[in-house]
Amino acid sequence: MSVLLNADDFRQRARRILPRGLFEYIDRGTEDETALRKLRESLDAITLRPSALTGHDWRDLKTQLFGTTIAAPLIVAPTALAGLVSYDGEAKLARAAATAGIPFCVSTQSVTTIESIRRGAPGAILWFQLYVWRDRSLTEQLLKRVAACDCDCLVITADTPLSPNREYNRRNGFSIPFSPTVRNIVDMATHPRWLLGVMGRYLATEGMPTYGHYPSEFRGAITRPSVADAVRLEHRLNWDDVRRLRDSWQGTFIVKGILTAEDAEMAADIGADGIVVSTHGGRNLDCLPTPASCLPKISRAVGARLTVLADSGVRRGTDVLKYLSLGAESVQLGRLPLWGLAAHGEKGAVAMLQMIIREIDTALGFLGFCNAGSLRTAQPLTDCCSSAERQLRQ
Ligand SMILES: Cc1cc2nc3c(=O)[nH]c(=O)nc-3n(C[C@H](O)[C@H](O)[C@H](O)COP(=O)(O)O)c2cc1C
Repeated sequence: MSVLLNADDFRQRARRILPRGLFEYIDRGTEDETALRKLRESLDAITLRPSALTGHDWRDLKTQLFGTTIAAPLIVAPTALAGLVSYDGEAKLARAAATAGIPFCVSTQSVTTIESIRRGAPGAILWFQLYVWRDRSLTEQLLKRVAACDCDCLVITADTPLSPNREYNRRNGFSIPFSPTVRNIVDMATHPRWLLGVMGRYLATEGMPTYGHYPSEFRGAITRPSVADAVRLEHRLNWDDVRRLRDSWQGTFIVKGILTAEDAEMAADIGADGIVVSTHGGRNLDCLPTPASCLPKISRAVGARLTVLADSGVRRGTDVLKYLSLGAESVQLGRLPLWGLAAHGEKGAVAMLQMIIREIDTALGFLGFCNAGSLRTAQPLTDCCSSAERQLRQ
């Protein structure tokens, strides 16, 4: 693993190991991938001004998040189908996050169930991301299972009212349900390490991998021709629904995919404990503003009422520091842990997380800070080069 020195090294390794359909499902954006490019540009445009000669000989990345101390201001973001990247991938990610001392957010659309993940990672801080199903009683049953797994933090995804337009998935024949084509069968066959180590292992044990949380009566292999109506994602979700979910959930409640101060205030009004300022990694809508441009205004509007988190586009420790300096209290990583997982399983995910934590530590030292929180409260040190961002910050 010593040759994998940065996130892009891991990404290139993942590209070689995973079938193209799966790699692109993780890696790419949507439509013309403008949002994805702008994510990178928005982070590259930010500079952080250092304080010289501050005389610190140590840095402490420990962060208080919803009453828990975590080792660094990071969370492993929910990513659907992580269990296709590596056998039992979600449990591996949960253990990797636990090794790094940070939470792991399980997706509704994980391959492995919350119960198996909890069994596989007893000490992990587990969060759960909810996509609401059309049949609300099934959603309620799922939430009972989640709560029973010592999973206190619920994340409602608010930015996915429809299936996004990802043309590359159609070209690659990557779809759920999976439909075999010459192209995707050749794709799998030419990636033998993945074919044997992931798909082969599932087929030899539990069978074709599925969306693990789907109730057993609706749970088909991913090759099944249709997903039953009851477990279709509820695309008509509104703030009243989210308020009801908030009221019925005993633990911490987060709304993910907020980009305006008005929506952030709605989240605070319904009693959410946190929001994630996010463009879903540039995967959903191609004309969105960047989290970097929205964060200062949102954090000013609601920072005193709830915890502001951010994600999308992080590839370096310095990107994490940039989001913190714009007002985020912690930052989620989506693709990075998946690339680590693809490259070397659990060890790769641990290596990736430790690498980002080292990068944060080094950059923090150069900036003259001894902890990440003090960087956040020194927001004026952030320099946003784009005029749009400068306007927002005035
Ligand atoms: C392969 C993949 C699957 C994802 N699945 C989900 C999901 O099931 N639920 C969700 O709320 N977000 C999902 N996301 C979005 C992530 O939670 C996160 O917002 C995004 O990946 C952050 O951007 P980054 O990948 O550049 O770090 C997914 C992202 C990826 C890359």
